[in-house]
Amino acid sequence: MDRILIAGGKPLRGRVRISGAKNASLAVLCATILSREEIILENVPDISDVRVMIEIINSMGATAVWENAETVKIVPAECENVEAPYHLVKKLRASNLLLGPVLARFGSAQVALPGGCNIGVRPMDLHFKGLAGLGAKLSMDRGFVRGSASGQLKGARIYLDFPSVGATENIMMAACLAKGQTLIENAAKEPEVVDLANFLNTIGARVRGAGTDAIKIDGVPGLEGGGRYSIIPDRIEAGTFMVAAAATGGEVTLENLIPIHLEPLSAKLREANVNVYEEEDTLKVQAKEPLRPIDIKTMPYPGFPTDMQSQLMAMLSAVPGTSMIVENIFENRFMVANELKRMGARIKIEGRMAVVEGVSALHGAQVKATDLRSGAALIVAGLMATGETEICNAVFIDRGYHNLEDKLGSLGAKIWRK
Ligand code: EPZ
Repeated sequence: MDRILIAGGKPLRGRVRISGAKNASLAVLCATILSREEIILENVPDISDVRVMIEIINSMGATAVWENAETVKIVPAECENVEAPYHLVKKLRASNLLLGPVLARFGSAQVALPGGCNIGVRPMDLHFKGLAGLGAKLSMDRGFVRGSASGQLKGARIYLDFPSVGATENIMMAACLAKGQTLIENAAKEPEVVDLANFLNTIGARVRGAGTDAIKIDGVPGLEGGGRYSIIPDRIEAGTFMVAAAATGGEVTLENLIPIHLEPLSAKLREANVNVYEEEDTLKVQAKEPLRPIDIKTMPYPGFPTDMQSQLMAMLSAVPGTSMIVENIFENRFMVANELKRMGARIKIEGRMAVVEGVSALHGAQVKATDLRSGAALIVAGLMATGETEICNAVFIDRGYHNLEDKLGSLGAKIWRK
């Protein structure tokens, strides 16, 4: 069951509901460790990354259980084990977001280093710089990062050399329980960072400025808040459906999303001659013929998201003309190009730049996913190609998309799991 089969060439038509955001859910699940009270998280996507994070939190002594298909109840009070085990961490690099909250709540932490992945080395130097700035002592030992804070962490002014999403989140969570005020400068502005800050304030933290490049956190003695919190919709899942609708010449309405979070992508799709209509919590995508080639540069939010780069490369592979893609965030995020070439794409990679010469149509082939978003891109390619496409390593796709085949099938796609 690790392969997906697609009979391409059918325009997607209909309505699809977007699930909760993977990257917000993972950060918020880590943040629940800061509280002592029961927390109910709603709109949580049932995807393998979230299931692994729940397994890790339970292994640390908390109790996290699914109440229904999209709701998780966490009782963090029992959490006392400060170690995130390697056999789980190696499945989920976002477990590095446990470092800040565990250190802040328990004064020590031991998190297996998740290591790199196919899209890049994924260093943590900015995480360490920020946590050390709050007074933590960090050391690396046999693949683990060990953190200790003799006494309470202390608020500090921290400048991030790069607006790292994870580093911003780790430092923000740790600073909630630090003594005094922390200022994070050149902070990441992604919607998932804002969602995490909103959650932290719900449980009693005092975070201001999330969504700007300067975030202020006034430390408090403890987070005693509990209660309910609803995760924001997943802008990358939504973007993937938008691109699939455009690439297949279809017309799809997406429900349960926040249109402003998709603005960087909507603007690019409009440039490519795609109609994107916005309403309060829906977006309608309508392809017009012919699509136009466009140039893309991935940037930190609100720039064009790196997590949508591969999907757009797939679409542009069959748009007549030359499109240029520059990947500024990760050093190895063009791997899907080799698989798209097996489907007839004409793509030239020169360092951080990909030159896409659009062909009249892609043809089906056997291809392999090498990471979550390259897998999503190959699904887009399979939907638009003539003939059958078989994608192996579908397990990558399950990390970040809930019931993707069913959702696409409801839009008319001929897609099966093998
Ligand atoms: C988050 O990863 C997301 N993951 C990624 O989504 C997303 O692509 C990325 O942000 C950028 O938007 C989660 O939120 C779980 P970064 P993160 O720290 O936090 C360099 C997906 O497909 N860097 O903003 O790891 C790093 O090498 C995933 O859903 C340092 O140099 O991203 C990279 O080049 C993939 N030192 C750049 O910053 C550090 O200490 C962006 O990384 C940290 C990062």
